[in-house]
Amino acid sequence: MPVLLHLDSSADLLTSRSRAVTATFAEAWRRLGPDHEVVHRDLHREPLPHLSDAALHFPPRLRPAGAAPSGEQEALQEKLVAELLAADVLLIGVPLYNYSMPSTLKAWIDYIHIPAVTAPFDDPAAQQPLAGRPAVLVSTRGGAYDAGSATEFDGHAVPALKLILADALGMRLETIVATRTLSERLGAPAEDVARQHAELTAAHEAAAAAARRLG
Ligand SMILES: Cc1cc2nc3c(=O)[nH]c(=O)nc-3n(C[C@H](O)[C@H](O)[C@H](O)COP(=O)(O)O)c2cc1C
Repeated sequence: MPVLLHLDSSADLLTSRSRAVTATFAEAWRRLGPDHEVVHRDLHREPLPHLSDAALHFPPRLRPAGAAPSGEQEALQEKLVAELLAADVLLIGVPLYNYSMPSTLKAWIDYIHIPAVTAPFDDPAAQQPLAGRPAVLVSTRGGAYDAGSATEFDGHAVPALKLILADALGMRLETIVATRTLSERLGAPAEDVARQHAELTAAHEAAAAAARRLG
């Protein structure tokens, strides 16, 4: 039973492009058959509490002496990690907020990136349980960030997620990008609006194709 873990983090409940594109992916996934399950976690509508204790970044054996993190948060962390480990494919909507990822998504990352549990540390036998697992980022940005430009990279959203999901957790990362998402609303030149629409159409197509390929 192939499971898609679908995360959204946009705070825009009216016109979000990342929510629209992840929905296209999830719909294409469901269409692959009744056995194709989608677990949807909306990190904006139901935000996770910030990590209340740095000790939770490590398993108990690597925590400082006297550490006593909240049992409730420890249970939440176990649930989130189990949900991720049970997924065959991870899909994340990543709007660019102040050159970074939304804090709601960062909170999720803070729970699931755990050295010696989900990321390598000192036990080769327990390294990278998610190695090779596909992760698809749907990155939406109001600005341009074209290849070759000084702002080619979107600041700290996709690069940080790549460091964590691909480099640390070993996941196989794909990124679907739609830029200039605010061009039409903010009265940008027609050329930019045309690019906005073309990129969004291509993002929906790429999402549906990725779901069919990975499902
Ligand atoms: C709090 C906030 C911060 C933003 N910061 C940036 C930014 O740094 N760079 C940028 O290009 N767009 C920025 N934007 C615009 C969003 O990236 C853009 O609206 C994008 O489409 C959001 O994704 P969504 O459509 O899925 O909501 C920001 C929007 C919000 C609400």
